[in-house]
Amino acid sequence: MHRSLSRRDVFKLGASGLAVLHMPQLALAELRDGVFELRAMKSRVKLAGENHAASDLWLYNGETPGPEIRVKRGQRVQVRFTNQLDHPTSVHWHGIRIANSMDGVSGLTQDPVPPGGTFAYDFVVPDAGTFWYHAHTKSWEQVARGLYGPLIVDELESGFDRAHDLTLMIDDWRLGNDGALHVASLGAFRDWSHAGRLGNWLTVNGRSEPEFKLNSEENYRLRLINASNARVLQISPKTMNARILGFDGFSFAKPRQHNSEYLAIAPAQRVDLLISSQNNGDVALNDIGDFALQELSGREALSIAKFKFSKTATRQPAKPVVLTQNAIDTPDLKNAVRVPLVMTGGAMGRLGDVTYKGKKLNRGDYQRTKQVWAFNGVANLADEPLFRVERGQSVIVETENRTGWLHGMHVHGHHFLIVSRNGLQERVRNWRDTFVIDRDETVEIAFVADNPGKWLLHCHMLEHAAAGMRTWFEVV
Ligand code: C2O
Ligand code: CU
Repeated sequence: MHRSLSRRDVFKLGASGLAVLHMPQLALAELRDGVFELRAMKSRVKLAGENHAASDLWLYNGETPGPEIRVKRGQRVQVRFTNQLDHPTSVHWHGIRIANSMDGVSGLTQDPVPPGGTFAYDFVVPDAGTFWYHAHTKSWEQVARGLYGPLIVDELESGFDRAHDLTLMIDDWRLGNDGALHVASLGAFRDWSHAGRLGNWLTVNGRSEPEFKLNSEENYRLRLINASNARVLQISPKTMNARILGFDGFSFAKPRQHNSEYLAIAPAQRVDLLISSQNNGDVALNDIGDFALQELSGREALSIAKFKFSKTATRQPAKPVVLTQNAIDTPDLKNAVRVPLVMTGGAMGRLGDVTYKGKKLNRGDYQRTKQVWAFNGVANLADEPLFRVERGQSVIVETENRTGWLHGMHVHGHHFLIVSRNGLQERVRNWRDTFVIDRDETVEIAFVADNPGKWLLHCHMLEHAAAGMRTWFEVV
């Protein structure tokens, strides 16, 4: 297992496979009296196909991924959430610049919803883009068991109708030899102290290598969402002749070419791609023919979704691509408050002095508490926030990774600009809600702290978060 993710290594699927009857598009969440209904429930799903054992999953509305919630920018979203599990849980709306009390972080912004309980989520979505929702109570287990789904906020005006706007939610499951979710290794100390829970079975929209049918001569937006606990996906836009429309729900001013070998998508990050036949003199879609979305982080490239083209019968000219940029205040770097955030710990790393729940940990405590990572010497939520600022204050968080591992760091309630890496100013500053930081790297991010409340800042490798990589800040 580990680095090798493959249908090849773990077990063989019958060559027959499953007939593809329709587009593997996700079901839309339905509105009832203006309210979306979400239920967390146990479900048994044969992730690896009919001839393999069923997995004990926890899903929203019994679907993997959960239903696609699709709304318009500026809209009020009401979700009646019911917990039908035997465990407390809560729902977080990842990437939404949301009202604090609706952020879904149990222990910080709300009490977890007890078994049998309900919670009325009610918020406004200020930005258009690709977002998602997931459990935010023991996320390392609840997300691994399938508690997540896409949240897509449409622009008021866009060049893509639903048939040309495809959500691809990607997950990295760890399956046992019987093909069922490997439950015994949930919470394994080795994962918590190393790279997190890496899987061996990649699905797109809950399926293994689904096939999408596209019309040539038309434009498509692919919304890629990484719902993995810990795997940093590597995809190659170049091989698909794709251009990039935006990151983490924030569109660029215009589509961008990506020329490096691969594009990394850390857990929780999103990338919107444009598949287009109007490529300004570049190769047209119908010239590249059918193609696969390949994932490159394993030992060998793995095709995780297929795209087949058919000629458009009535050839309408593709609608022009219209990108709307979200309205967000740019931080004032000159007058920003500077906050150092030093990341330590993990296997093979220097841990130094770690405080957990107000006590200094001794050597023997690491196994017992499972706290092995720290931010500024504190494992998990400190009593005092990382910083407390007045609303409207610009903040630069200077993040220094002194661990031997790569991390994907997420800020709640705000999008930020990546300002510099290792002292080098970023040539293009992108808005993100989750950023990658490699070992020995220092990354500066900046944002206007304009959303009042207590907000989490954590590694989105969910085992790392559980094992210490969580802090919080307050906007007053
Ligand atoms: Cu995607 Cu703290 O969450
Ligand atoms: Cu991490």
